[in-house]
Amino acid sequence: MPESFIIEGGHRLKGEIAVFGSKNSSLPIMAASILTGGKLIIDNVPPVKDIITMAEILRYIGLEVNVGENQVIIKGEPKSFEAPYELVSKMRASFELLGPLLARFGEAKIPYPGGCRIGLRPIDLHVKGFESLGAEINIEKGFVYARAKKGLKGNKIYLDKPSVGATRNIMMASVLAKGETIIENAACEPEVVDLGNFLKTLGAEIEGLGTSVIYITGKNELKSIDYYKVIPDRIAAGSYIIASVMIGKEVLIKNVELDHLQSLFMKLKEAGVDNFQLKEKEVLIRGVKGWKGLEINTMPYPGFPTDLQPQIMVFACLAQGSSVIIENIFENRFSHVGELLRLGAKISIEGRTAMVQGVPKLVGAPVEATDLRAGVALVIAGLVAEGETEVMGVDEHIDRGHVNLEKEFSDLGAKIKRVKKA
Ligand code: EPZ
Repeated sequence: MPESFIIEGGHRLKGEIAVFGSKNSSLPIMAASILTGGKLIIDNVPPVKDIITMAEILRYIGLEVNVGENQVIIKGEPKSFEAPYELVSKMRASFELLGPLLARFGEAKIPYPGGCRIGLRPIDLHVKGFESLGAEINIEKGFVYARAKKGLKGNKIYLDKPSVGATRNIMMASVLAKGETIIENAACEPEVVDLGNFLKTLGAEIEGLGTSVIYITGKNELKSIDYYKVIPDRIAAGSYIIASVMIGKEVLIKNVELDHLQSLFMKLKEAGVDNFQLKEKEVLIRGVKGWKGLEINTMPYPGFPTDLQPQIMVFACLAQGSSVIIENIFENRFSHVGELLRLGAKISIEGRTAMVQGVPKLVGAPVEATDLRAGVALVIAGLVAEGETEVMGVDEHIDRGHVNLEKEFSDLGAKIKRVKKA
C-alpha cells in the first residue's frame, strides 16, 4: 500500500538531531566488501531501503549480510559474478558492483542500469575506464558483460566528467590490477574519499584522494579487516540545516562534518542567514529572520551539491527577492518544481535554470515526491507551509534515503505522520 506523510505546517522546530551515516558512502563500501573476505562490520550505516537492496544483491552473490540498526555485517566469500535484474533495476548504485566483481572474478555481468527520474545517467565513463584497464565490455540484451580473463592492467584514465560513480567503480577495479592506474579528472566528493580510505584499510595503495588525480598501485590481493566506520551523511545534515534555518526555534544538529558542507554555509550567509553557529561536528540554529534571494550553481564537490538543490529551492521560494538556481549535474532534476507551484511558489524554468520569485508564504496542498531529494524538499516545504500538506510517494522515494524522516522531524516538534493509502 502506498504511503504518504500528512504534515501540519508552521510548527517551530526545537531539540537535537544526530545525523546518521552516509548512504552514498555505505553503498560502494558494501560493494567493495567483495574485494575482501572474513567478517566485516561496517558501522554508521543507515538501514534505509537502498542499503537493504544492496544487502539483497550481495546475498545473491553469495555473501552473508546482516543489516542492523546502525551497522551492516558482511561475512563469507562471493560465489557469483552476476547480479539479478529485479534488484539492480531498483537502484542505480548497484552498477558499482561491476568494478569489484570484475577485479575479483575477471568477469562480471550486471543489468544495464538505465535512466531514472533525474536524468539519463549514462555509464560510458565507467565503460571507458574498464576498457582502459584491459577489460572487454559487451552490452547485450540489457546486460553489461565485462571480461578480463588475463586480469586487469593499470593505465591512465581521463574522465570527461568527474563522475562520482565512475571514479569509485574504476578505483575498486584497479586496486587488484597489475601496475599503476591514474584517474585524471576524478571526483573529489567525500563519499569517494571514504571509499578510498576503506580500500586503504584493506591494504590498497591509493594516493590523491580528495583531489582530481588519484593514483592507485594494484596489489595481488587485499586483506580482510574487522571494522570500518562510514562518514556522516552530508545531504541529510544539509536538509536538516535548511529546514531549521527557516523554521527552527533552537535546533542542535550533531554528527555534522562541517568541512563537507562549506558551500551550503557560504550560500546561507550570502542570503543573509546568520542564525546558525558552527561548532566541532555540530550546528546550532537559533531563531529565524527573513532572508534574501540567492544564486545557486550545482557543481561537483566542493561546489554546491545537486542533492541539496531541491531543498535549497524551498528556501529560495520564501526569500525576500528573487533567486536563480542552475542545475549543472543532472538534466532533469526539476521535478519538484511543479509540486512547489501547487504550494503557491513562483518558479519558472528555462532549460537547466530555475528562476524563483520569493513569496511571503507557502500554503499546504497534496504533492508527490518524484525522487528521494525532491521528496525531502517537499517535506521541508510542508513544514514551513501554512495548513496541511500531503506528501505522496514516501515509501517509494523518501524511504530510500531516510529510515524514519517523520520521527526525525516529530522529535523536533513538527506535526508529521505517516499514513497508508488504500
Ligand atoms: C552519485 O551518483 C550519487 N549516488 C548521487 O546521489 C549524486 O546526485 C551524484 O553522485 C552527484 O553527486 C550515489 O553516490 C549512490 P555521477 P552518480 O556519475 O555516481 C554523468 C541521491 O539522491 N555521467 O557523478 O551516478 C551523469 O549523467 C543520488 O542520493 C556520464 O555522463 O553520479 C551526471 O550528469 C542521486 N557518464 C554526471 O555525470 C557516466 O558514465 C555526474 O554523475 C557517468 C556519469
